[in-house]
Amino acid sequence: MDYLIWIFIAYLLGNFSTSYFVGKIAANIDIRNYGSGNAGSTNVFRTLGLKAGAWAFLGDSLKGILAVYLGRRFGGESLMLLCGIAVIIGHNWPVALKFKGGKGIATSIGVGLFVQPLSALICIIIGVIILFRFKYVSLASVSAISLLPFVFIFHGTNYFLFGLFLSIMAIYRHRSNIKRLINGTESKISSGSKTKG
Ligand code: G3P
Repeated sequence: MDYLIWIFIAYLLGNFSTSYFVGKIAANIDIRNYGSGNAGSTNVFRTLGLKAGAWAFLGDSLKGILAVYLGRRFGGESLMLLCGIAVIIGHNWPVALKFKGGKGIATSIGVGLFVQPLSALICIIIGVIILFRFKYVSLASVSAISLLPFVFIFHGTNYFLFGLFLSIMAIYRHRSNIKRLINGTESKISSGSKTKG
C-alpha cells in the first residue's frame, strides 16, 4: 500500500510541468500553443530563449531526481525504479494539463543520473555528440535514450527492463518527430522564435 502511495506521489511530481510554468511566468503563454506544441525544455528554448529553456530543463530534471530519491529513501531499489517510471508518466501525461505534457527527456535525464550516474552519463554524452553533429534535439534524444537499456543491462534484469520502459515511452512520445525526421521536415535546434504551433 505504501508503495502505491509513493508511486502516486511520483506521478503527481511529474505533473508539475516546469515548461508550462516557465511559459506562463516568462511570457504569459501556454507553451503548448507554440513551436512544436510540446511542454518541454526544447520547445521553451526554441520559443523563449536559452534562459527560459535552462530553467525548464532544470525543473523537469530535478523533479525526476526528487521522485527516485523518495522512492529509494522510503522503499529501496524497486520502489525507486517504479517512482522513476511514474514521474516520467506524470510528465508525459499529466492529469493537471489534460494529459498533454512533454516527451520526458529532461525528466529521464534526472532519473537516470540518480539511478545509475555513469550509465546515464554515457548516454548523455552520446546524445550531445549527435546533437552537435546533426543539430536535431529529437534525434539526439531518441538515439541516446534507446541506448539506455543496453547500458543498464550491466546492472541486472530490473535495470534493463526499466531502461527499456523509459526508451519505449520516449520513442512513443517522439513519433511525430520521427516522422518529420524521416520526411526531412524536422526543425534543427534554434532559439527565440516565438511562432505559434
Ligand atoms: O525532449 C524533447 C525533444 O527531444 C524534442 O522536442 O519540441 O522538438 O518536439 P520538440
